[in-house]
Amino acid sequence: MAVRHFLTLMDLTTAELNGLIARAIELKGSSRAGEIHEPLRNRVLGMVFEKSSTRTRVSFEAAMAQFGGHAIFLSPRDTQLGRGEPIEDTARVLSRMVDLVMIRTFEHDKIERFAAHSRVPVINGLTDHYHPCQLLADVQTYVEHRGAIAGRTVAWIGDGNNMCNSYINAARQFDFRLNIACPEGYDPDPALLAAAGDRVTLTRDPATAATAADLVVTDVWASMGQEEEQKLREAAFAGYQVNGELMARARPDALFMHCLPAHRGEEVSAEVIDGPQSVVWDEAENRLHAQKALIEFLYCG
Ligand code: CP
Ligand code: NVA
Repeated sequence: MAVRHFLTLMDLTTAELNGLIARAIELKGSSRAGEIHEPLRNRVLGMVFEKSSTRTRVSFEAAMAQFGGHAIFLSPRDTQLGRGEPIEDTARVLSRMVDLVMIRTFEHDKIERFAAHSRVPVINGLTDHYHPCQLLADVQTYVEHRGAIAGRTVAWIGDGNNMCNSYINAARQFDFRLNIACPEGYDPDPALLAAAGDRVTLTRDPATAATAADLVVTDVWASMGQEEEQKLREAAFAGYQVNGELMARARPDALFMHCLPAHRGEEVSAEVIDGPQSVVWDEAENRLHAQKALIEFLYCG
């Protein structure tokens, strides 16, 4: 059988994704009850990080430990990747030694090239274009707090970045409406927008996007690799902060999410991220449970 990868949310069917969310909730419950479940006993996950990480690294490493396996952290600084060994060669070698691979990198085509030469499942731990693992955790968090996300309205406020692109795919796969508000010049991938049809709208006005939303989501204004654009972006995104005034446009029971790390006073005010509508800590924790469900699905079928 062909190896399954998770490079974007479109690699799984809607039924498979919904199954993963249900399984993540189940695994969270059994793990909290102290049950031992080791489907990856003696198995190894290779983790290639070309960008920084707190949540992604710790959640994958903890997931493998809890599953009875092991994770290896690899960075370009101390592997041959940093000295120019081709990604295809790295894929061929790593996938003969480990059972799964997770990669966080820059260009999305790099993870596609890796996957094309890998004998084992490859998981996208973030590229410049997508962050699908985060969406599993976000959907799990919404479902836990409010029930099914299908038919709901999500507002994305800010940069049309990797998270925004993954929200567009999620709107298709999980069947929710997505209102995106971002400044001109910072739009998400137009091909993804076109493929999503009229369930996804794009506006320049955050208040319009947030109106009657069930969930309001934002992310940093300058993503990893864009640090030198910080000042330019602060100017472009002024007016795109998720604050109390903007949250008041959403439904009274709306939730707030942010993949973290966050910058209070920039993309989100402290009153919102530290307030009662924010579920960011559950969202961060759910990276662990959602990825355990993903690893189990990819490895065990
Ligand atoms: N949300 C997220 O991916 O966090 P890290 O960059 O800390 O992994
Ligand atoms: N858009 C952010 C997400 C970080 C988890 C980035 O790419 O830096």
